[in-house]
Amino acid sequence: MKINDKSGVINYVADSERYNTMTYNRCGKSGVLLPAISLGLWHNFGFVDNQNNAREILRTAFDLGITHFDLANNYGPPYGSAEENFGMLYKKDFKPYRDELFIASKAGYDMWPGPYGNLGSRKYIMASIDQSLKRMGLDYVDIFYHHRPDPDTPLEETMVALADIVRQGKALYVGISNYQPKETAEAAALLKELRVPFVLHQARYSIFDRWVEDGLLNTLENNGVGCIAFSPLAQGMLTNKYVNGIPEDSRAAKNLTYLDREQVENNLHKIKNLAAVAEKRGQKLSQMAIAWLLNRPAITSVLVGASSAKQLIENVKALDNLVFSEEEKKIINANS
Ligand SMILES: NC(=O)c1ccc[n+]([C@@H]2O[C@H](COP(=O)([O-])OP(=O)(O)OC[C@H]3O[C@@H](n4cnc5c(N)ncnc54)[C@H](OP(=O)(O)O)[C@@H]3O)[C@@H](O)[C@H]2O)c1
Repeated sequence: MKINDKSGVINYVADSERYNTMTYNRCGKSGVLLPAISLGLWHNFGFVDNQNNAREILRTAFDLGITHFDLANNYGPPYGSAEENFGMLYKKDFKPYRDELFIASKAGYDMWPGPYGNLGSRKYIMASIDQSLKRMGLDYVDIFYHHRPDPDTPLEETMVALADIVRQGKALYVGISNYQPKETAEAAALLKELRVPFVLHQARYSIFDRWVEDGLLNTLENNGVGCIAFSPLAQGMLTNKYVNGIPEDSRAAKNLTYLDREQVENNLHKIKNLAAVAEKRGQKLSQMAIAWLLNRPAITSVLVGASSAKQLIENVKALDNLVFSEEEKKIINANS
């Protein structure tokens, strides 16, 4: 990424129509509304990526009414670089819009060497939020998550750390990610006792991965917590991208990611069947995959990734058709 490359970049003024088409859903029983589609910065925003492309994706997102940007301490690569790039672009383009944005960060995965840069200790979490705020040039994040459960740290230690982050004014709300139903209920009880606004669980959920239907969504509903679905496109498999083979610039062709050629090849027959249903609905597969998630009452927002502004524009058009016939649901279930 060329940090000082200003070619082709003009001052950004957000589209005045940006709130006219996006839908905003309530996060569980909280006061927070989130866009039906949110943007994640896991890939495509690191130092290895093109800054102008990253900037165009962020500007396009906000122009489409996407107010929620999702980051984590270790997004990049290298770790921390997505937050640093986001901070630089925030300063250039989004600073006047701070109160219109809902920005997330997280700690829980491997971040720095030694015993204090991973998992769920108070020591790690308190240091990590300070690092994230510094990298992004923010006074606070809107939501701070524990990124994954840590079986060896008492849950109370982790939840009290999250609560203290809120009390210190470094986050407005808290969330958890990748927690199973039982741990989620325990976390909800602790956070309720601590009177800390626990508003979101971030969970992997797509037509290809429906584990949340086995208890998690009910637990969230019982506790008034929203669910934001990550990897809704199964990292690109649930798009038209792989229907005719694996493009060289795709995630599956790069070895930086968790998606590989074998996974795509193993799912190809399902991808083709689903793409055929989408086509009959007048949608791209990506649009149908997002619409299918938004059709579920427990879902507050669908958290997509995008390697181009064009993909994001295509994905947001999912909102044009959220209704499914029984026949369509049957075929989708058979290809889940
Ligand atoms: N909490 C957690 O543990 C966790 C874990 C994973 C992700 N997340 C969050 O969720 C966000 C989304 O995850 P994800 O990136 O895996 O989501 P995804 O939406 O399933 O996959 C995004 C990828 O799909 C491809 N794509 C998107 N739209 C497309 C379109 N219209 N046509 C063709 N290809 C398209 C692009 O890949 P190409 O690069 O191939 O173009 C894009 O980078 C992350 O950024 C992160 O914020 C959280």
